[in-house]
Amino acid sequence: MTKVCVRVPATSANLGPGFDALGVALDLHNVVEIGLSEAPRVVVGSEGAHELPSDRTNLVYRAAFALAEVAGVHDVHFSLRCENRIPLARGLGSSAAAIVAGLVGANELLGRPVDLEGLVQLAAQLEGHPDNVVPALVGGFTVAVAEGKQVWWTQIPVPDPPLVVLGIPEFALPTEEARRRLPDRVAFEDAVANTGRAALLVAALVTRRLDLLGVATEDRLHQPYRDPLVPGFAAVCRAAREAGAAGVALSGAGPSVVAFAEAGRAGEVAQAMERAFDACGVRARAIVTHVDPAGAQIVERPNNGWR
Ligand code: HSE
Repeated sequence: MTKVCVRVPATSANLGPGFDALGVALDLHNVVEIGLSEAPRVVVGSEGAHELPSDRTNLVYRAAFALAEVAGVHDVHFSLRCENRIPLARGLGSSAAAIVAGLVGANELLGRPVDLEGLVQLAAQLEGHPDNVVPALVGGFTVAVAEGKQVWWTQIPVPDPPLVVLGIPEFALPTEEARRRLPDRVAFEDAVANTGRAALLVAALVTRRLDLLGVATEDRLHQPYRDPLVPGFAAVCRAAREAGAAGVALSGAGPSVVAFAEAGRAGEVAQAMERAFDACGVRARAIVTHVDPAGAQIVERPNNGWR
């Protein structure tokens, strides 16, 4: 096999109270064509075309190379063509998607030497936290807990998942910057509040009690500290709720805002989020997405003018 195509979803992590643990895959995808070649070659199209490296320091390339090393295949080079739809540094899992694309693509090319469990562990090590890479790999809603190098994870079976509305500001917020804002210690009562809400959120999704999502998406561990980095965050959350969103949270480390809504309400929620960002002087667009139940997939090469 000389070339494969991998499609990898965007992801929203934390979902409010599930810091570094909860995540969901969405039907907004990057597609990467990856092949073995005589020398490294990287072409990036669409999102990040002018920002992402087009050499072996590219994150997709580094992940593919890491997979080959783990598989004991040395002196290998890859040719990559990345068609990116996931905006960078917006809290939508673009780095997780890059890592997963490199790992899954290289694994396929090399005859699948690493199983899914191995891919999860490797992806989490490369990313540093598991809550985006796990849903990007397996799809759906997931919970993942890391201790040192080990990740324990599972998919959450969610019947008839709600729609997921993303309010995506035009400005970027690097995850490292948003993580630097977090405190070393938190109050016991805040930890208790989050523990209960994270459990409530999972139970509410599994039992489709969308009426519980308002409380279940509240957070005291990271959003209060990141709020100053996202102008309009509180106003956008309020506007989404008033327009009928069942629950609202910061998407990952931000700056995007994620809202859960029934089909009949999602369009209005999206408009309300855009208007609220605009009223705060932040250019933003809102899109309505579906949960991607499948995660990373090997797909047919798109017939869109690629070589
Ligand atoms: N759990 C991570 C954080 C997600 O909030 O920093 C980053 O996408």
